[in-house]
Amino acid sequence: MKGLHMVGVRHAYGATQVLNNISLTVAAGELVCLLGPSGCGKTTLLRIAGGMETLQEGTVTIDEEVVAEARSQLPPEDRRIGYMFQDFALFPHLTILGNVTFGLFRQRKAAATKRAMEMLDQVGMAQHAEKHPHMLSGGEQQRVALARALAPEPRLVLLDEPFSGLDTNMRARIREETLSVLKQNNVATLMVTHDPEEAMFMADRIKVLGEGGRILQAGRPEDIYYRPADEYVARLFGHMNVIDGIVSEGNLNSSFGAIQVDDAEDGRPVRLLIRPEGVTLSDGDDRKGGTPVDVLSSHLLGDRSVVRLQLSEGVNSGAELQARIPGKFDMTAKGQIWAHVDPRHVFQYPQD
Ligand SMILES: Nc1ncnc2c1ncn2[C@@H]1O[C@H](COP(=O)(O)OP(=O)(O)O)[C@@H](O)[C@H]1O
Ligand SMILES: [Mg+2]
Repeated sequence: MKGLHMVGVRHAYGATQVLNNISLTVAAGELVCLLGPSGCGKTTLLRIAGGMETLQEGTVTIDEEVVAEARSQLPPEDRRIGYMFQDFALFPHLTILGNVTFGLFRQRKAAATKRAMEMLDQVGMAQHAEKHPHMLSGGEQQRVALARALAPEPRLVLLDEPFSGLDTNMRARIREETLSVLKQNNVATLMVTHDPEEAMFMADRIKVLGEGGRILQAGRPEDIYYRPADEYVARLFGHMNVIDGIVSEGNLNSSFGAIQVDDAEDGRPVRLLIRPEGVTLSDGDDRKGGTPVDVLSSHLLGDRSVVRLQLSEGVNSGAELQARIPGKFDMTAKGQIWAHVDPRHVFQYPQD
């Protein structure tokens, strides 16, 4: 199969194990994202795939060619890989065109220039070909870096937190453009990031890497968000509301009523995690089966508000919850507020 295969990769720096038996596949045309907190070994894994870090254990195969195994390893320049790394900036002394033709040293000058201009055109930067990097904005430099990575028609592209230096608006635009150019070129792409939203946006498939360098869950973005395998994965996306309880007759009794618990025996302690976006509010006479809450505070974040609530009835009375609701939440003159939970945002795990 075309694309990248990494099998059984382990890596240690001295006595510290950072990658523990990682296997992954990225097909041609596919974008796989490795998502995990800072320090969990993401950059190390990309450097192993690229050949900048010596493989210690496992194998790396690209387009059915073994490029690294314990005894023999191809140098990076022979792997036909394109890179966009945080610290892999454009060459400041070369023009934009010079930067993109740099990786095309095997071609004649005319062919290299033609190919480089084609790629600059694809990323909308052809008119800047004669400029130097310092004359471009961060987003424009990023587009050039993408053109440079793709110009030699790599078999694999490696992206290491490629948008982290850009401001919010520019980041959203550049990642959309980058995704579209990668898909047009039908190249296998392995990207790493600590930003779950970025992973959700870019990836066909996500692999969640946890502490200790193990893959905790692999799946499509919607699997990771709607069916997180454990509490750690569920919490990647930010604050979680917690309701602990004991299973009784297949249910957990809560202020929201009896919540059905899947395959759990009576008497077992379970934990419900509820995403803030899974808590909705109604007011006044519009109880709709909700539970009464006191509003502690409300903060407008832009397109949504974060509302802190305290449950005022039932077994969880006194517990605090966070709701994330669209638009601005008006705290005044609403009368009683009722909270509801959307079952799609409620996850059940055994209590530790
Ligand atoms: N060359 C190195 N020598 C020793 N330790 C390293 C080296 N490179 C990275 N580390 C350590 O290995 C762990 C993983 O690093 P890294 O792969 O950069 O993680 P990430 O990219 O997920 O933030 C970190 O604890 C880091 O400090
Ligand atoms: Mg890193």
